[in-house]
Amino acid sequence: MQTIVTQSVGVAATWINRGEIVAFPTETVYGLGADITSDAAIEKIYAAKGRPPDNPLIVHIHSLHQLQEVASDIPRSAESLIHHFFPGPLTVILNKNPEVSQLVTAGLPTAGIRLPAHPVAQEFLRRCTHPVAAPSANISGRPSSTDWKAVYDDLKGKIPCVLKGPQSTIGLESTIVDCSVHPPRLLRSGAISLESLRNVVPQIRAGSSNEKTHSPKSPGLKYPHYSPSAQIILCEEGYPPIERETNSAWIGISQQPEGIAKTAICKNPEEYAFRLFSFFRECDREGISVIFCEMPPADGIGLAIRDRLQRAAERNDK
Ligand code: TXA
Ligand code: MG
Repeated sequence: MQTIVTQSVGVAATWINRGEIVAFPTETVYGLGADITSDAAIEKIYAAKGRPPDNPLIVHIHSLHQLQEVASDIPRSAESLIHHFFPGPLTVILNKNPEVSQLVTAGLPTAGIRLPAHPVAQEFLRRCTHPVAAPSANISGRPSSTDWKAVYDDLKGKIPCVLKGPQSTIGLESTIVDCSVHPPRLLRSGAISLESLRNVVPQIRAGSSNEKTHSPKSPGLKYPHYSPSAQIILCEEGYPPIERETNSAWIGISQQPEGIAKTAICKNPEEYAFRLFSFFRECDREGISVIFCEMPPADGIGLAIRDRLQRAAERNDK
């Protein structure tokens, strides 16, 4: 299959409305979208990514009017979160409208719903006839794509169209809050921190750490994620013992230890989040074998970075 790269939201939406799949930019990461009313199109997403069939997709909408197409009831907690954080890097889990296909939600009675803030994403979604289901636009298990070239590297020949936009400004996937349970529960951390969520809905619970082993509420959490080919070594405090001859890289906020050729020194946690996945991909292209990752402080977006780093490093343990 030929993969075209376009900057035209009209062209990209036409593919979606014809039952095809299209990668598109959002402020978190690039998504790989399909019309939620077309089971055939949804199946193409799972096939292109090599995504396990029990991992549900997030539904993307362009305005609050589309909520009723996707959700059956909206509890007060969700209403408040939507009011404060939509459009933006937040996904809320709600009981689904019975019309939404089981393929989108992988058989769950709930659906994840997000209204991106990115102007290109919004314009694209407005031109699509129905809401658009979209996981991150990467091969399953790989780091999410934060620019169109990463999408192209992973998915060329597997999808017909990439809508080209600027690099995603946040760089990590949305915060996910399950509002189908009471009290609501944080399932995935992201740029909207637990602190800011609790300023709006104080009773939100943090996700439990044994999620992986005990029938996770968010099915995607049990799969390996975000992994470059290189080995990931987490550095909590200070520098690890580093062999100079190792073909290694460093990403963090502090200065790098001596003897490491490739480094990303970030000014703050926001820049760390922005650069993380593209740095992983760059390291793979350059044949780096070990990436040392400094763990940022565990607050704000730092919690989300720590989560992604921990899960990227887990792959090494298998
Ligand atoms: O920022 C984002 O959320 C990006 C952009 C493209 O919007 N999308 C994204 O999708 O990260 P994905 O598929 O890579 O991650 C979605 C996560 C998965 O862990 C999935 O299991 C969870 O959301 N999820 C989706 N629907 C769910 C539901 N009904 N209940 C619980 N978890 C759900
Ligand atoms: Mg993903």
